[in-house]
Amino acid sequence: MFEHIDGCVRPEDSGLGKDHPKEINAETGNFFVEQRTGIERRKIGIIGLGSVGSALKAVLSYFYEVHGYDIRGNHDWSKILSCEAVFICVQTPEGKDGRLDCSRVNDVLKRLQESNFSGVTVIKSTLRVGFMDEARKNYPGLRLVYSPEFMSEKNAFIWTANPDRIVLTGNENDMDYVQILYYWADGAKIIRTDDRSAEIGKLAHNSYIALKVTFTNMMERISIMGKASPDDVMKIVYTDRRVGNSAHLEPHKGPYGGKCVPKDTAELINAFGEVAKLLKVADEFNDAIINLEGIVTQENHQDPRKYLK
Ligand SMILES: NC(=O)c1ccc[n+]([C@@H]2O[C@H](COP(=O)([O-])OP(=O)(O)OC[C@H]3O[C@@H](n4cnc5c(N)ncnc54)[C@H](O)[C@@H]3O)[C@@H](O)[C@H]2O)c1
Repeated sequence: MFEHIDGCVRPEDSGLGKDHPKEINAETGNFFVEQRTGIERRKIGIIGLGSVGSALKAVLSYFYEVHGYDIRGNHDWSKILSCEAVFICVQTPEGKDGRLDCSRVNDVLKRLQESNFSGVTVIKSTLRVGFMDEARKNYPGLRLVYSPEFMSEKNAFIWTANPDRIVLTGNENDMDYVQILYYWADGAKIIRTDDRSAEIGKLAHNSYIALKVTFTNMMERISIMGKASPDDVMKIVYTDRRVGNSAHLEPHKGPYGGKCVPKDTAELINAFGEVAKLLKVADEFNDAIINLEGIVTQENHQDPRKYLK
């Protein structure tokens, strides 16, 4: 249905136009186009206009009247309250205890509840394990859906426009509503699940990236010590049809870093202890590369041959 240009979905090029959102047929689950000419466009709010929030705003603005709100800047909270749904995209950094600090999400939920917000509240921020149990207890007035974000920061718009999957939790009606909002994402798998599976699944994905990067770094060093070519060794691994592609399996990229992978991995390590030992070992190996070899991030990665004599 959509044309893909430079890897991006450009809804205005699809022939649908901005005012013709698609809906989901409740019986068949199929998408169809509803002519909405003359009907007021849906108002959608976004709270937290950082990397995730601004990419989402850019994509949603093709279809909806979007109101953004951030504590940085001069935005109108009352516009958020007039929205049918709001997406919460505030940061959840690693706290002192190694767990994700969700206090900003709590601040926003508290404010929405105190403002008697009656639309659907969609949390996109990555959450600590168990957060949704507390949120459903503490904010009974809110219609909460957890829909974690998986975009890559380097290509935020492209990933937001073309997600691989959309994860949803909450009551059936609210999940239906949010699924309809995401209607542009034809190709995405829809995974409707429970809160815990969404919380751990989101963290598992970034932890898997941490393990892949660590495996590649280990094999790169083993290859050099064993007088082999790291490139050929890893090519032998990732060309297998069971592996799929070379993402995070190409050598010379250095340790993992950035805003999300380390903190999400730390959340599972610190929430589950011994059973998450594999992640702990990866974390220690990654730190060793950073500390002993002086390699700070993937961007300024240097050749490990310098350190392995
Ligand atoms: N950046 C990524 O690539 C990425 C990918 C997937 C998931 N995530 C997750 O999405 C969430 C957001 O990440 P981000 O990278 O966009 O964060 P960010 O730091 O870039 O942006 C967060 C924004 O929220 C605003 N904010 C904080 N508290 C607020 C409040 N009470 N009310 C209104 N605005 C508030 C901040 O001012 C900031 O502009 C995090 O939980 C992160 O783990 C990020």
